[in-house]
Amino acid sequence: MIDLRGKVILITGASRGIGAGIARVLGKAGAELILHYGRSRAQAEALAREIGLDRTRLLEADLSREEALLRLWEEALRWRGRIDVLVNNAGVAIAAAPESDLEQWRAAWEETWRINVLAAAHLCREAIAHFRARGGGVIINIASRAAFRGDTPEYLAYAASKGALVALTRSIARGYGSDNITAFVVAPGFVRTDMAEAFIQRYGLDYVTGDIPLGQMAEPEDVGYVVAFLASGLARHATGATIDINGASYVH
Ligand SMILES: NC(=O)c1ccc[n+]([C@@H]2O[C@H](COP(=O)([O-])OP(=O)(O)OC[C@H]3O[C@@H](n4cnc5c(N)ncnc54)[C@H](OP(=O)(O)O)[C@@H]3O)[C@@H](O)[C@H]2O)c1
Repeated sequence: MIDLRGKVILITGASRGIGAGIARVLGKAGAELILHYGRSRAQAEALAREIGLDRTRLLEADLSREEALLRLWEEALRWRGRIDVLVNNAGVAIAAAPESDLEQWRAAWEETWRINVLAAAHLCREAIAHFRARGGGVIINIASRAAFRGDTPEYLAYAASKGALVALTRSIARGYGSDNITAFVVAPGFVRTDMAEAFIQRYGLDYVTGDIPLGQMAEPEDVGYVVAFLASGLARHATGATIDINGASYVH
């Protein structure tokens, strides 16, 4: 039912975890994919081979560097001459409780903000200009349950950054709906990736799965199915909305 053939979609952080799961699902639905990666080149290359080299373009960029991410957008645009959907998925979760020393605290907040907020905002800015010129487009920002529920003291910066991403997305939906630009938040709870593994190491498996009525973490592809639906245009009138993927562990 969901057919993404002919749609050009940029996914950040497609090399691993949720981004790779999104890429697999969108690839199966026929999309043309720009797969962004940072350090995990080999994994990104394997994913591109799996989906098909004729339908994928691999692009490297350190999202903490503004010039690198502006170059990423330019090169992504050059591939097929247009982008229909932007998926801001790349993100970091860096631990630093208020009790940690000031240097560690500051470094965690600055790096979290650069990647989770600024990089996504800059790419949204580029996308808005491009979509306005082309008559529309879709932005899908991967936030987190933490934006709504809050997080542990070690991850205050993470939760705050995801809250910022939610407000950014809703504002774009309100500000640019008349330009046929739609914007959505996807808010996962725990998803089985390296990032979730870091939480399991720190707090234990029971902390991660204990309050999920479905009894297990989501898989990266579970996020992919929701993104495929949003990218298809079928959910146009739900613009500005958040889709939770947390097994009812937090219902708001
Ligand atoms: N897993 C969860 O339980 C969960 C829950 C809620 C929300 N989320 C959100 O979902 C998104 C994906 O999470 P995940 O679990 O898949 O994380 P992950 O397994 O740690 O993967 C992170 C991805 O982001 C990329 N990335 C990180 N920093 C980068 C940088 N400076 N420059 C370029 N790329 C960078 C990584 O690329 P390279 O490896 O190539 O450098 C990788 O592809 C994040 O926004 C996260 O906050 C995750």
